[in-house]
Amino acid sequence: MEPFDIRPLGSSFGAEITGIDVRTMDDPAAAALHAAIDAHRVVVIRGQSLSPEAQKRFSRRLGPLVTLPYVKPLDGHPEVIAVLKEADEVKVSTFGSWWHADFSYLEEPPVYSILHALELPPKGGDTLFADLCTAYDALSSGMRRMLDPLQVMHSGFVYGTRTAVDGERGRARGVVISRGNADADVERAHPLVRFHAPTGRKALFASPTYTTRLADMTAEESRPLLEFLYGHMARPEYTLRQRWQPGDLLVWDNRAVNHLAVNDYDGYRRLLHRTTAGRERPAAAPT
Ligand SMILES: [Fe+2]
Repeated sequence: MEPFDIRPLGSSFGAEITGIDVRTMDDPAAAALHAAIDAHRVVVIRGQSLSPEAQKRFSRRLGPLVTLPYVKPLDGHPEVIAVLKEADEVKVSTFGSWWHADFSYLEEPPVYSILHALELPPKGGDTLFADLCTAYDALSSGMRRMLDPLQVMHSGFVYGTRTAVDGERGRARGVVISRGNADADVERAHPLVRFHAPTGRKALFASPTYTTRLADMTAEESRPLLEFLYGHMARPEYTLRQRWQPGDLLVWDNRAVNHLAVNDYDGYRRLLHRTTAGRERPAAAPT
């Protein structure tokens, strides 16, 4: 018997959890919750009320806290960032508004991203997720065989540059992006097909935000295959949509899902607190 109620959100991934207060759960409940997150890969725990300190305490149960390149944290809480867009910010770029896995360009990218909803618009502001395990499994055997040994290059440079210095569009003030983090600007190779150890499944590991090209190929040569994969992984049957409720605490596994934030709530304030836990060097499946 689980120490919480759980029901599926999407057909292949995602779960909603109720009936638990993460501030007071005991160690067995925390372990069961961690196992549910690994199995479902996107989990929303409803009805939480967490201070930044309490959110950090919860996040540490999943792994060591990670501080983020590019993004200015909350005062006094270097491991917490405010994902904020103010009501008067219209037609601005927001943080994470196209498909990506968080900071996939790092040598050991973060595993779990954790968002706690504090203030929400009356409509819009959803977050979308794509199930990269099921998307991989759906490919033909020939395609999977071709993709399995490939490496792709990831870099924060393109996205970081675009959002830090954007001549055309303003940027949301709430998430302050800084430049000059050398670790985010290099191109780094990771397996295109990543092993998700908790489930023993393989997941596509690429995104239009951070993947620059296939290893040992030009961007132009890489584009047809990558564009096919981006279209494939974003098909509706592999995605789910998180409609935020106040108090939601949402955790996703960057090893196995991509996500994007929908920027469709101009005129309303939206504030979530974000923490990040665990790091892992992406690895291909054992053969
Ligand atoms: Fe993100």
